[in-house]
Amino acid sequence: MTSSQKSALENLLPKYGVKYSLDLGLLPSSLLGNPELPLIIDIGFGDGELLVATAEEQKEINFIGIEVYDAGIGHCLKLIDEKKVNNLKLVSGDAVDVMKFGIVEKSINEINLFFPDPWPKKRHHKRRIINNGFIALMSEKLVNSGTVNISTDWEDYADQIGDLFSKRGEFLEKSSASRDISTKFERRGISLGHDIFNFTYELISQ
Ligand SMILES: C[S@@+](CC[C@H](N)C(=O)[O-])C[C@H]1O[C@@H](n2cnc3c(N)ncnc32)[C@H](O)[C@@H]1O
Repeated sequence: MTSSQKSALENLLPKYGVKYSLDLGLLPSSLLGNPELPLIIDIGFGDGELLVATAEEQKEINFIGIEVYDAGIGHCLKLIDEKKVNNLKLVSGDAVDVMKFGIVEKSINEINLFFPDPWPKKRHHKRRIINNGFIALMSEKLVNSGTVNISTDWEDYADQIGDLFSKRGEFLEKSSASRDISTKFERRGISLGHDIFNFTYELISQ
């Protein structure tokens, strides 16, 4: 982590976000912005370049980014401060805990999971964030007709994602919208000659 990322984490996280711990329970309402506006959550936003650019473009939406990587959070906090983005807040913490305990049911309109850690070794596949339990958690927190957007450059992860969602009944696959800006890990995948697999799933009304 650079010294400026470290200083952003110390000085700007209290202003633009929160460090999540289980004793916090639900995320403070100040973090969720205007309750009249839709809410998009980005899980594992990395350096946050795409997230900040999207929040700047879509001011009528509240964004929350969840990340565990301090250098990425520091980088993103600096961007939020420099660009004076006021519809994006960050949560430093494990997205599984934040989703489970920090977020009210049926309150998220869209969840983005762009290039989640691939854990390529077979014995590590169980560490992949997208599994049955996490899909069930997302379906609890999404509003009816809410969507999940997932991208990966790992073919076997893409196969696994497709299988997991198709075996469950609560999502319909839709075509994915294209993004104007690529993420750091998307560019990395392309430079390695990987194909990019994009998925969009819509929660069927329950
Ligand atoms: C491969 S990177 C992709 C980053 C970014 N979305 C991109 O496309 O460039 C995956 C990110 O997910 C974060 N991550 C992994 N597990 C997480 C978890 N349980 N909660 C929050 N973030 C997580 C990692 O720290 C990492 O920054």
